[in-house]
Order: sequence, then structure tokens, then C-alpha cells
Amino acid sequence: MQTVESIKALRQMRSDWRNNNKKVGFVPTMGNLHDGHLELVKEASRQCDVVIASIFVNPLQFGQNEDLATYPRTLDEDKQKLIAHGTDALFLPTVEEMYPRGPEQQTFVEVPGISSIICGASRPGHFRGVATVVCKLFNMVQPDIALFGQKDYQQLQVIRLMTQDLCIDTSIEGVPTQRAPDGLALSSRNGYLNETQRSTAPKLYAEMQALAAKIRQGESDYRRLAAESVQYLAAHGFKPDYIEVRNAHTLLPATGDDSQLVILAAAYLGKTRLIDNLTVEL
Ligand code: PAF
Repeated sequence: MQTVESIKALRQMRSDWRNNNKKVGFVPTMGNLHDGHLELVKEASRQCDVVIASIFVNPLQFGQNEDLATYPRTLDEDKQKLIAHGTDALFLPTVEEMYPRGPEQQTFVEVPGISSIICGASRPGHFRGVATVVCKLFNMVQPDIALFGQKDYQQLQVIRLMTQDLCIDTSIEGVPTQRAPDGLALSSRNGYLNETQRSTAPKLYAEMQALAAKIRQGESDYRRLAAESVQYLAAHGFKPDYIEVRNAHTLLPATGDDSQLVILAAAYLGKTRLIDNLTVEL
């Protein structure tokens, strides 16, 4: 696996691939790779001639009181995992390479509307940081395909809209969430959980499945159902941020006319914020 740290070296590599007509698959990450990330790499290699991953803990997408400083950094293990999965190249930029004038002076990309609801309301500026870094990475890597986990459902919708609005010639693929055997969605932040919290954590997805079952059985007072799930989680050790039943595409509150729904949830266990989602087709 070739590791490049500068945009210049990345562009050279990209132009060699272009000259050799290689189809390029891109997996952007913040590192601390788990099976969810590796599934993205596997899918990229199924569809493409070359696979490039990036590892960059993007300061622009962390709020002031969030975990930027403590975000797990496990570069050596990450490299081994990427190599074992046949990744061709790793882009590993520094903050200075990505934001030479500093993150505050960076021109930004903001997808209006969707960026300020649900997770965006709880984490102001987060999706602007994501859209900005992903747009920059796309301009650098110029991938044919870019792959993202469906676990970050709202992020995936933001990236799809950004790519469409800015006419970026990359197709965006969402890859299904990978779960632990007990149902907990894999996430780098799961590593923050202590033993008790880890044993409580699967209740989040279990409650979302229970909510989905009620919807499939015909219950349609989504606000009441979501409020009941919030109460359930609060009574079982979580500090819920939200549970929402939304239109799966617009992420606006679901109405009786919608047939493709998504249940979106965020809840804290101690200081760790877990998110998950579940789509429901009626
Ligand atoms: O999902 C992530 O790990 C990050 O938000 C991403 C897409 C790599 C942008 O920093």
C-alpha cells in the first residue's frame, strides 16, 4: 500500500491511475478502523480497479465541547487492516496540508436545510465541516466512486446532496451498517463505553426495532411512538438526544403519505453519543 501525505503526491498518483484507465474507489475515514470501514474497502475493491482510503481526523466537524482531542488515533493498526484488505493507497494529510490558512479561514461548503435539522441541530456546524472536508477530498482524489457507511444516515444524505448540487462527478454508495452480534452498530466511539454501558448499548437498536414493528403493524402517530421510545431509553440508562421518524429521503417529519421512512436515533451513555438508524418500507 502506497501512503501519501501531500496533495501533490496524491495528484501524481491519481494522474497515473487516469493514464492507465483505472476505476478509482475512495473510502474517506477518520481512522480507528473497524469492520464497518473494512466493509467499505471490500465493496470498493469489488467495484473498482484501485482503492484509496484516507485517514484524517477533521477538526472542522467537531464542536467545541466534543471529542476532537481524545478521538481514538490507531494509525499502525489501521494501516495493517487496510493492507490486509488489499487497499492500494492511503492518503494521510496533516491539518496544515488540509487547512493551510487554518480551519477558521477555510472556505466552506454548506448544504442548507438538511444540515441544521436532527443531528445538525444538536451539533451546529458539524455537517458544514463534513461537507467541506469531503468536497476537498473529492477534489483531490477525484474518485469514480466514494463509499460511506449507512450508519451515518444524515451524513450520507448531506454528501449525496452536496455532490449533486456541486456537479461532482463521483457516484456515492451507501454501504449497510455493520453490527456486533448483539445488534450494536459498529462505531469508533463504542471504544469509549465501559462494561456496563457496553451491555446497555444494544437496547438502542432493540428499541428502534420495536418502534419499527409498531409502525409496520399500522400505528401511525409517529410523534407519540418516538416519545415513548425516548421514555423507554431514558428509563434504561440512556440520556436520549432524539428519536425521530422521518421521510427516508428528505429527512422531514414523516406523514401518513410517506411510504419510505427512517427511524433516526441519538442517545448518550455517559459522555458517549451513540447514533443509529433503521429504514422502514410501508
Ligand atoms: O464518517 C466519517 O468518518 C467522517 O465524517 C468523514 C466522512 C470521513 C469526513 O471526515
